Amino acid sequence: MTANELYCRAFQKAMKLTALVFDWTEPELIQGPGSVKDLPALIQSKGIQRVLLVTDPGLMKIGLPKPLIEALEAAGIFCAVYDQTCVNPTIQNVEDARQLYLEADCEAIIAFGGGSPMDCAKGCGARVTNPKKSMMQMSGLLHVSKKLPPLFAVPTTAGTGSEATVAAVVTNPETHEKCPCNDPKLRPKYAVLDPALTVGLPQPITSTTGMDALTHAVEAYIGQSNTKYTAKRALEATTLIFRWLKKAYDNGADMEARENMLLASYYAGVAFTRAYIGYVHGIAHNLGGYYNVPHGLANAIILPRVLEYYGESAYARLADLADAAGVAGNTTEEKAKAFIQAIRDMNASMNIPDHFDCIQEADIPLLAQRALKESNPLYPVPKIMTQPECEALIRNLMG
Ligand SMILES: NC(=O)c1ccc[n+]([C@@H]2O[C@H](COP(=O)([O-])OP(=O)(O)OC[C@H]3O[C@@H](n4cnc5c(N)ncnc54)[C@H](O)[C@@H]3O)[C@@H](O)[C@H]2O)c1
Ligand SMILES: [Fe+2]
Repeated sequence: MTANELYCRAFQKAMKLTALVFDWTEPELIQGPGSVKDLPALIQSKGIQRVLLVTDPGLMKIGLPKPLIEALEAAGIFCAVYDQTCVNPTIQNVEDARQLYLEADCEAIIAFGGGSPMDCAKGCGARVTNPKKSMMQMSGLLHVSKKLPPLFAVPTTAGTGSEATVAAVVTNPETHEKCPCNDPKLRPKYAVLDPALTVGLPQPITSTTGMDALTHAVEAYIGQSNTKYTAKRALEATTLIFRWLKKAYDNGADMEARENMLLASYYAGVAFTRAYIGYVHGIAHNLGGYYNVPHGLANAIILPRVLEYYGESAYARLADLADAAGVAGNTTEEKAKAFIQAIRDMNASMNIPDHFDCIQEADIPLLAQRALKESNPLYPVPKIMTQPECEALIRNLMG
């Protein structure tokens, strides 16, 4: 083992032990088609009278948040709306949402949308109660000092699982860096899993966000910080995604498929928020920060490449995932390889490309450096990657 590997493994062991004392209480769930209509009554029951709803322009345009906003108003709850969250939300988004929260004298936040509005809402909540710390100062691990205002998460993609996680990922547009901020205080107290909100997801967003959920399950499961519970959730998510994602992609109105994908995304979120992610995300976050590649698309393309890089170090775990996915093979190695191929096949069946056109050769050293800075020593990956290996992997992604 090199000195760097020793350092990473010692750090990861210490983090696994530290995690034993965290509060891992999961959000209280409201579930089922149409269940978002129960949210105003829940908010009312908490004595909350003024909320900020954080969403994005695309969702406002198709009117998805409208029935909820109207129902809140009908229930006598004042609702200010921040609808400018961009894909890969920025520090400015968080600051603008916070300003609106303060001006409108709000007491709670509803995060309505995919991972972008959910993370913007988490950042906004953290800034409201921690005004002396900038978003950048809270990025990293355990830098949120005070708990957030009540946060109700309503995912409309399936997805990031942000409704279940202790993370908020915000982009610094000046440096093109995506900064993951990890703290149990960021975990929403309530989540609404309403599949009816996801039936209108266009095919490319259904497919790529679904592959993001799969990446969470896979990276959590093959990492070294699993608990029995996170392993179980990761396997369940994998089974659900292999069974239902293509169905949701083929027929967006298939409510059973949508419901199962929301559940898969939630389970995968529960798994990775404790067991962490890996190099797929480390690289994907940086392609997002640099070239604004959508998060799910980046993960979908990078996932099979990184799994191949892990090679033997991940075979046993990948073979378990193959079993969960219903992918056959005679030996552990065969199963692992068949599982990676099944991911490639699933991507191809949903028209997801297998490379990026945006990567510039000159950017590769810094991209690799940042991906490794994010991942090492934090992510308990099966095999520690070096700078030349990471550069070669990114170069291969150019097609
Ligand atoms: N906090 C976490 O734990 C975590 C985990 C993974 C990813 N993320 C972050 O989440 C972000 C990505 O989130 P995402 O993949 O959910 O996409 P997104 O929130 O960026 O949304 C993508 C697009 O889909 C549209 N959309 C969303 N729901 C829709 C619906 N029901 N119908 C029609 N259109 C809809 C949006 O308007 C937007 O244009 C990234 O910034 C990523 O870093 C966070
Ligand atoms: Fe992700």
